[in-house]
Amino acid sequence: MDKIAILCSGGDVSGMNPALKRFVEYAYAKNMQPFFVYNGYEGLIDDKIHEAHYEDVAGIMTRGGTKIRSARSERFKESKYRALAAENLRQKGITKLVVLGGDGSFRGMERFHDETGIAFCGIPSTIDNDINGTDYCLGVDTALNVIKNAIDSIRDTASSFRRAFIIEIMGRNCGYLALVSAITSGAEMCLIPEIPIDIHEYKECFESQIRKGRDYFIAIVSEGLKNADDVAQWFEKDLGFESRVSVLGHIQRGGNPSVFDRLMAYQFVTHAIDALVTGNNNSIICYSKSHFNFKSITEVALHAYHLDEALLTLGREQFAPSHCQM
Ligand code: F6P
Repeated sequence: MDKIAILCSGGDVSGMNPALKRFVEYAYAKNMQPFFVYNGYEGLIDDKIHEAHYEDVAGIMTRGGTKIRSARSERFKESKYRALAAENLRQKGITKLVVLGGDGSFRGMERFHDETGIAFCGIPSTIDNDINGTDYCLGVDTALNVIKNAIDSIRDTASSFRRAFIIEIMGRNCGYLALVSAITSGAEMCLIPEIPIDIHEYKECFESQIRKGRDYFIAIVSEGLKNADDVAQWFEKDLGFESRVSVLGHIQRGGNPSVFDRLMAYQFVTHAIDALVTGNNNSIICYSKSHFNFKSITEVALHAYHLDEALLTLGREQFAPSHCQM
């Protein structure tokens, strides 16, 4: 019986548990013995590799996070630890590995594959949605829904006071989460790295809106800009608006996986296992232009991700100060 393992690396996402469930069930269906690697690449090095059974995945579909835990491993960047990790897999006869993670995790895997020949398929998983070559990364939809609920709740309190709320959204240097959230929550302002904006240019327009009755603001800012406090001060000083900063933080990574993420988890894992069964030994399963397709790690991990131009156009049209409706 072929042996196949799965691990989660980097920031966890809602959707990893549904992926683990599908992994165990589909591995059995393909007559393979499934294994879990606990704690990401750290667990590969420390030999936290255990057979997985149906009971391990019973009832986990509804839970965010990952039952087998994740980690950001510094040691896996060193060849001596990668050699240890490979030896641990060999001892157990495991020849195939599915990795849920981001591009950093895939870069590590490429080296690992080159050095050891262990077959590998990566599943893009990060709420940041910042992996080149795929339009969708596992966990993004759940994160967007968590953010939507948080902004809707903040709007309740914002609308009860005369206040500006500056809401900081995760995503590292990628503005995807912030931009989609701003568009879909009806925010007045959205600041992301990809669309440079001088907030002073909003002054005249916002003053006009205030004169016409606007009595609260929702401003979405991407964490990569590190300017939430500056924006709050601007509302206070330039517009005379009491303001509050709300950093949503790690709630964005948790929560009951959405229907879409459950479905994507199912399909990503199915494609990953099919690839490994048919000898596609070193690839990432991507989702672009509404189709699943395999890409090389080089294609995915060695190029920077760029936000979709059509989405950026929407963002510019909605949030550029020059388009602000007085
Ligand atoms: O990459 C996912 C992410 O949640 C980013 O949006 C965020 O900047 C980072 O991870 C936070 O990392 P940590 O959980 O290590 O603080």
